[in-house]
Amino acid sequence: MTPTVIAQISDPHLKPPGVLAYGAADTAAALRRAVDLLNRLDPRPQAVVITGDLVDEGASSSYDVLRGILVGLAMPFFMVPGNHDHKDRLRAAFPDHGYLEGFIEPGGRRAMCFCIEEFSLRLIGIDTVIPGEHGGGLNAGRLQWLDRALAERPSAPTLVFMHHPPFASGIGHMDGEPFIRREELAGIIRRHPQVERIACGHIHRAFSRRFGGTVATVAPGIGMQLDLDLRPEAPSVFVLEPAGFLLHVWTDLWGEPTLLTHVGTIPEQPGRYRGPYPFFDVVSPT
Ligand SMILES: [Fe+2]
Repeated sequence: MTPTVIAQISDPHLKPPGVLAYGAADTAAALRRAVDLLNRLDPRPQAVVITGDLVDEGASSSYDVLRGILVGLAMPFFMVPGNHDHKDRLRAAFPDHGYLEGFIEPGGRRAMCFCIEEFSLRLIGIDTVIPGEHGGGLNAGRLQWLDRALAERPSAPTLVFMHHPPFASGIGHMDGEPFIRREELAGIIRRHPQVERIACGHIHRAFSRRFGGTVATVAPGIGMQLDLDLRPEAPSVFVLEPAGFLLHVWTDLWGEPTLLTHVGTIPEQPGRYRGPYPFFDVVSPT
């Protein structure tokens, strides 16, 4: 089969025009580089999913910057909200992205949950934002929505995208707010084995683990990376390592349908890294 390639980027944290994030990170330039690199990939991804913290402070002018950059993507893109996002302003900036309507919960809040059915991989986005909170979670309505959505197409290989990982990261300052109702989410995922991957953001650093009987991955950041400091007392700081992205590839290499997740980096200048060099002089020393 022809592989289905879905790119994931996360946490661009855009600011209003001309403003550096936290006085240091040119997040708009980083996102432009990401768009340029994704457009040049061969094979080109069929779609891009951006897993939240699209902007940093929820300002409309930041969403205008976001739109101005993302419209440069050569393929469709889909967004889930993060804790730094303002959902009404996000919707206002992307009126052509109907899936952002999600559904309205009792009490009038919007849950930006959606299914995208047009690819060989089914894409589901779930909204883990708790208003006013840095940490994330789900409630009964969103869990039911997910359970029903997964039950609709039990044989469709599925990627579930969400901003907050439903597990701790090992980076101390990010683990103070346990994900609400994570055990129930794990139970739902376990009941729907067509979920090939749970793909998250929020941590600004790539890592993976088992969750609910599937594989969960966390994408690196676009705007900035959290320092790889696994001490419980790790301070909340970021470093300007190269940004990164994930490529989720649904393929049947070696006759086995499977979802591969590759990690790529986005250099600050194209061609910054030396290479490529041939890599085949030694096959297997005997
Ligand atoms: Fe973030």
